[in-house]
Amino acid sequence: EAIGKGGYAHFMLKEIHEQPNAIRNTILPRIQDGLPNLEECGITPEVLREFRHIQVVACGTAMHAGTVGKYVIEKLARVPVTVDIASEFRYREPLVGEGDLVIIISQSGETADSLAALRLAKSLGAKTLAIVNAMGSSIAREADMLIYTHAGPEIAVASTKAYMVQIAVMYLFAFELALAVGNIDETECRRLVKLLQETPEVITGILEHKEQTQYIASSLITADSLLYIGRGLDYALSMEGSLKLKEISYIHSESYAAGELKHGTISLITENMPVIAVATQKALREKTISNIKEVKARGARVILVCRESDNVDPDAVDLKFGLPEFDDLLMPMIAVVPLQLIAYYTSVLKGNDVDKPRNLAKSVTVE
Ligand code: G6P
Repeated sequence: EAIGKGGYAHFMLKEIHEQPNAIRNTILPRIQDGLPNLEECGITPEVLREFRHIQVVACGTAMHAGTVGKYVIEKLARVPVTVDIASEFRYREPLVGEGDLVIIISQSGETADSLAALRLAKSLGAKTLAIVNAMGSSIAREADMLIYTHAGPEIAVASTKAYMVQIAVMYLFAFELALAVGNIDETECRRLVKLLQETPEVITGILEHKEQTQYIASSLITADSLLYIGRGLDYALSMEGSLKLKEISYIHSESYAAGELKHGTISLITENMPVIAVATQKALREKTISNIKEVKARGARVILVCRESDNVDPDAVDLKFGLPEFDDLLMPMIAVVPLQLIAYYTSVLKGNDVDKPRNLAKSVTVE
């Protein structure tokens, strides 16, 4: 087994380190002349121009990848996107049909609720696109269009590299769609593709310095409960950070839209409760900082994930993880890495079975 782990202590850590290559393997075959090309997946500009609405359906981490996709697609292409949990979608008589694209995201391609959602969407006349990691899986076989992610086998139950390539595909898809509907021009599309291609190197840089995430993790192990907060893309990312942590550290955690805190959740803040705030989106930064001050004033211990270059008020923040400079839109691909590492080290320090957390299965093939 040690050989399977390639010298890493756990599969999860190995898979976190495999992310730069997983991104390259997934995106490079779909880039031609600096522009996205998804033709081999059945996706052409003509096909894309048909869709008035996009519905993303998935479970768990894959649903969080879809949430990042929603922000990116809506921002770049101005096509409305809704995201649903597969077990909810399938039982609420969903309003999808002809003219809609339903995107099913799944690492395993076998999740029972996601497969049922795919079949339902097809029966209602929607076109379906699967974004799947496992070759030849049921969801991959049954969808009308298919984009494989090339993360390679993911062994750790807590998904890391599969999430990374799912969002990489969502970006590529959003770029192609935005170009197809004429909302961005070729120059802008090339600029975005180039940035996407730069992400593996930036992630490698973060993986070379893991000490700060270890230190942050050591400050979390005695907590009973945690909050993750953010706005916009940072909120989408907070959801994944929070899920990762609770899956493997067994510390109760939830993610909250920072601006919504004051409508209820702020009552949970007690002395020393850790709050992990993600603030990578320049336009929303000051808003999130003011939410940080609100929780800090109520005793929270604030850990801020932001750019290294951001000056933070030492009275408002206890610990900071500094990210390298990068484009706001693509920042989730970078900022998720410290969140994965914080969850990983917290689990290790608590002596948990990192790769096989209690009560969880890698793939849920029963309802
Ligand atoms: C399980 C796994 C999660 C995963 C979810 C969806 O709950 O423990 O890590 O995100 O299923 O799996 P899928 O294979 O459809 O992406």
